Amino acid sequence: MSDELQALRDQIDGIDDEIVRLLHARAEVLHRLFMVKRAEDAPFANPERERAVLDHVTRARGAFPPAAMRALYRELLRLSAVVAESSEEPSADAVALRWLCSPTISVMKPYVPGKPVEVLERELGIKDAVKLASNENPLGASPRALAAVREMLHTTHSYPEGSSYFLRQALAAKHGVEMDQIICGSGAYELLELCVRTFCVPEEEIIHARPSFVAYDLAAQEHGVGEVVVPLDDTNDFRYDVDAMLARVTPRTKVLFLANPNNPTGAYLGRTDFERLVFDLPPSVILAVDEAYFEYTHAGDFPDSTRYHNARERILTFRTFSKVQGLAGLRVGYCIGSPTMIGFMQRVRPPFNVTSVAQAAALAAIDDHEHVARSRQLNLQGLAYLHRELKRLGVKTYPSQANFVFVDLGRPSAPVYEALLRKGVIVRPIGGPQHLRVSVGLPEENERFVRALAEVLA
Ligand SMILES: Cc1ncc(COP(=O)(O)O)c(C=O)c1O
Repeated sequence: MSDELQALRDQIDGIDDEIVRLLHARAEVLHRLFMVKRAEDAPFANPERERAVLDHVTRARGAFPPAAMRALYRELLRLSAVVAESSEEPSADAVALRWLCSPTISVMKPYVPGKPVEVLERELGIKDAVKLASNENPLGASPRALAAVREMLHTTHSYPEGSSYFLRQALAAKHGVEMDQIICGSGAYELLELCVRTFCVPEEEIIHARPSFVAYDLAAQEHGVGEVVVPLDDTNDFRYDVDAMLARVTPRTKVLFLANPNNPTGAYLGRTDFERLVFDLPPSVILAVDEAYFEYTHAGDFPDSTRYHNARERILTFRTFSKVQGLAGLRVGYCIGSPTMIGFMQRVRPPFNVTSVAQAAALAAIDDHEHVARSRQLNLQGLAYLHRELKRLGVKTYPSQANFVFVDLGRPSAPVYEALLRKGVIVRPIGGPQHLRVSVGLPEENERFVRALAEVLA
């Protein structure tokens, strides 16, 4: 080896030693930062700060182009988060455990569902708890679906038809699209995650609002995809701001998630603004419209995103049988898109992801217009009742196009939530420090909630 080559190698070894020393030093500072944040009860994960760091390190010009620097730093941020979130004095065991699973997953917080009635009843030793926490249909499942379930039960020794053939056929007829434009999933939730898994790589970003459905956060975190959060605020009734969303689009944006109407706020994006997204979003961005509550909507200008599939190539519509059809426990949802996009999603769909019983139930529920009409009617009455009675209690409510009401208590919601639990009423403290989301129940359940809340606030 020539002297010159050896000298250059020595130089690289020296630089590497310095880089390694700096990396460890950086991780230690980050760990201290985490401890300070924990003491101050501040959230650690902060996609906005992560973006700022990435922008900062890509500003300096050198041999690496900005995209390469971003890729390097994204990996560093991911690994650093694992170190930062670990215990104060990491033992050898703690270090081994910390690296047991993939770095993206080790820093995730699991989905927190509404508290089940049975759990609260066991805790309180009562029998009549009321759950208004998961936006379920208080009338129960579609009777037609239940009849189909009974018929289907004797086939449960066989695997289901893997592609949900007959269900997709019926859904294609309902929406006037081809069968290869539909994919069915174990709830819409599975398909939202599948969307990120199929279309995004870690260098790319998704855009979504906050507060909104947590599935978008979790899917991005799970796959190490960047998140751009567009905050909604109560000065505007938590309405979507299309300009703010469009302003956040960059060449890295891959998917924009829009829950319409939004969960937990109940706000919606009207047709005119929706069309701006359809036509003004760059063609490279997938507009993912989550219409889990579509059948409950009642605004005259509520846009049906399935009507825009001819106008935009990259658009996906997500629907579910969990809400108005009352099949949340069976887990069926579907997604409509172009044959190409749906074809890609089909490649990663787990085989047999929708059970035979669930497929049969959903197929029967499609034609149960009576159940949908009764559910809509009951919901409208319930919404009107809750808005009226909560106003009487001096509690602020926000307009809702869904089967729940978002409320601002004007005081911390956690103690109110706990006090309601002790009275056997389960709601959801979600969307803000002073906020609750209350699902519309049967009239007597809504009354029970209002009575309990009045006592708690007194
Ligand atoms: C906005 C939104 N999208 C999707 C879902 C998921 O529905 P599914 O039960 O089909 O997974 C929910 C459930 O609460 C929701 O609120």
